[in-house]
Amino acid sequence: VIELTDIAYVRSSSPDVEGAVRFAVEIVGLELVDHDGSTAYLRADQRHHCLAIEDGEPGVRGSGLCVSDLDALADAERELEAAGVSVSRGTADEAASRRVEAYIAFDDPAGNHIELVVDQAVLGRPVHFGRDAGIIEFGHICLDAPDTKVAADFYCSVFSAKLSDRVGDAARLLRIDPVHHKLAVFQSDGPGLCHINLQVASLDALMTNWRFLERTGVEIQSGPGRHPTSNAIFVYFSGPDQMTYEYSFGVRRIEDDAAWRPRVFPLEEPGSIDAWCGPTQRVTSQPQLQQESPVPSVAAPA
Ligand SMILES: [Fe+2]
Repeated sequence: VIELTDIAYVRSSSPDVEGAVRFAVEIVGLELVDHDGSTAYLRADQRHHCLAIEDGEPGVRGSGLCVSDLDALADAERELEAAGVSVSRGTADEAASRRVEAYIAFDDPAGNHIELVVDQAVLGRPVHFGRDAGIIEFGHICLDAPDTKVAADFYCSVFSAKLSDRVGDAARLLRIDPVHHKLAVFQSDGPGLCHINLQVASLDALMTNWRFLERTGVEIQSGPGRHPTSNAIFVYFSGPDQMTYEYSFGVRRIEDDAAWRPRVFPLEEPGSIDAWCGPTQRVTSQPQLQQESPVPSVAAPA
């Protein structure tokens, strides 16, 4: 089993990097850390970046997840190949552009491009937020999958993720540490990035952000509401290029791992997505782009 230690970043691309960065800084409140060549790096916490926006057609290029060290990465490469998954190793230049020591890349069963990284750079200086949104942390990555059970089973068998709760077959919420979910899979026609989550410090920050977004004319996709699964209070809103951002506050922690039993909230029941029964809709996703250097998709198990 490959032990996932954290989430690292999302790599997205846009035909208008300047516009996407302006939104990420002035509306979302992230810090623009660096903009070298065609890639802009944005951060929410000590990580060098949680979002890299590259010049190109709109879509998601990949998502980074962490393993502990180079030995763990080498083990992961073997375990993935043993599980019938084709793996490629990033070059030194590619690792440098991701601000990691090393990484390997593969596609999950849904076709999401995943990068397993070691030693993502950490910045010691305080985060210089673009706006006072009360952001405290890059909270989770939510991916799309045609079959959420197949995708979740992959992360929970080949990897160390655990199912925390699910909303029918529409959403499966996975934990890799005590936080209720740092990885989620939502049902969709194909692979993609459903949303990127940022945790905020307080209910006041969440609601003040919601009012700010409304005042600024940003499209609110859902919320404010409360997820009965994670207990978090949320608001989802639209960025450029079909990117969906989520602010949330108060996510549940599962401290007694052994005692937790995953629960099923039927999608058709009011209150399964929002306990306050507000209007909910499937949020928009960024489609998974084909890679620059094609990574072979998941091979059928032998
Ligand atoms: Fe979320």
